Amino acid sequence: MHPLILAIESSCDETSAALIRNGKVLNNIIASQRIHEQFGGVVPELASRAHQQNIWRVVDQALREANVDVHDLDAIAFTRGPGLLGSLLVGASFAKGLALGLGKPLLDVHHMQAHVLAHFIDDPVPSFPFLCLTVSGGHTQLVVVRNHLNMEVIGETRDDAVGEAFDKAAKILGLPYPGGPLIDRYAQEGNPKRFSFPGADIPGLDFSFSGIKTAFLYFLRDQVAVNPNFIAENLADICASLQRQLVNMLMQKLRKAVRETGIRQVALAGGVSANRGLRAAVHAWASSENIPCFVPELQYCTDNAAMIAIAAHFKYLAGDFADLTVAPLAGMEMERTSA
Ligand code: KG4
Ligand code: ZN
Repeated sequence: MHPLILAIESSCDETSAALIRNGKVLNNIIASQRIHEQFGGVVPELASRAHQQNIWRVVDQALREANVDVHDLDAIAFTRGPGLLGSLLVGASFAKGLALGLGKPLLDVHHMQAHVLAHFIDDPVPSFPFLCLTVSGGHTQLVVVRNHLNMEVIGETRDDAVGEAFDKAAKILGLPYPGGPLIDRYAQEGNPKRFSFPGADIPGLDFSFSGIKTAFLYFLRDQVAVNPNFIAENLADICASLQRQLVNMLMQKLRKAVRETGIRQVALAGGVSANRGLRAAVHAWASSENIPCFVPELQYCTDNAAMIAIAAHFKYLAGDFADLTVAPLAGMEMERTSA
């Protein structure tokens, strides 16, 4: 079996298409939607419209660049959820139409599982079981990965996702959306010990990021009342100090999860795993503990169809197909137990 699969990702503000043949990703075409920058966050209606405009373009480009005839595809895959419903509907409907028109099977993919499976796009790949810290704009999860299709959430955020904390803090600083990468960039030049922000005292392996966001807002409000130029004069130190605390909060729970599960192999996934402070902290700790650690290539951290393609490949091998009645799920859950 050497399946050739077209995968489509449209869960948020990235319209993406990828081809995979026999588990090898051939390409990964991404159209980012810059329209949201001016609104300080993703506007769902505008995202759906942009997906509708971009989807054929990215699929066509993926097929042409890989010199693949659409009739040679063995299956069509799409992101079923979680995500914005209007955005998901565009990808799902397009995939269904194509599958129906070509008479090919359909594969539905869980977006958060796909973030984890991005580790299987290129070598070296983790062995099972491993612990994955999935950090994105919508989720913050600690996942025990038993095999490609068997994952269990053992901890997650009780309020904001860490990517949301980065983006909201950036918005408070007057930076455009998405602010996470900008905080990362300014933090490179700053002193991470200049300011301190509170962590969160949440039991178990769950996270909370709403407290630090509020503390950050009040801290800046007080400082700006004294010095109206406070943000401009201290931007790098503010970003470095905030990032240090957010990374500490993630690392604290990751270390705890390793202790409690005894699983001594870790991975990062999701958009925030592009963060240089987090990547450096995980590498430093893992090497001091002699724990193998996996961090995805940057293009596979943020939303992309290559990760949907690799997940679809494993589902194809397992014979786990969807039928044409399948519907997107905005709040699609992964299995969760308490550790
Ligand atoms: O996985 P992703 O592309 O989309 C979701 O599924 O949510 O993650 C997007 C999130 C945004 O919050 C963005 O600000 C954050 O990832 N992000 C970063 C960095 N690059 C992306 N946060 C901090 N540092 C970065 N370098
Ligand atoms: Zn994502």
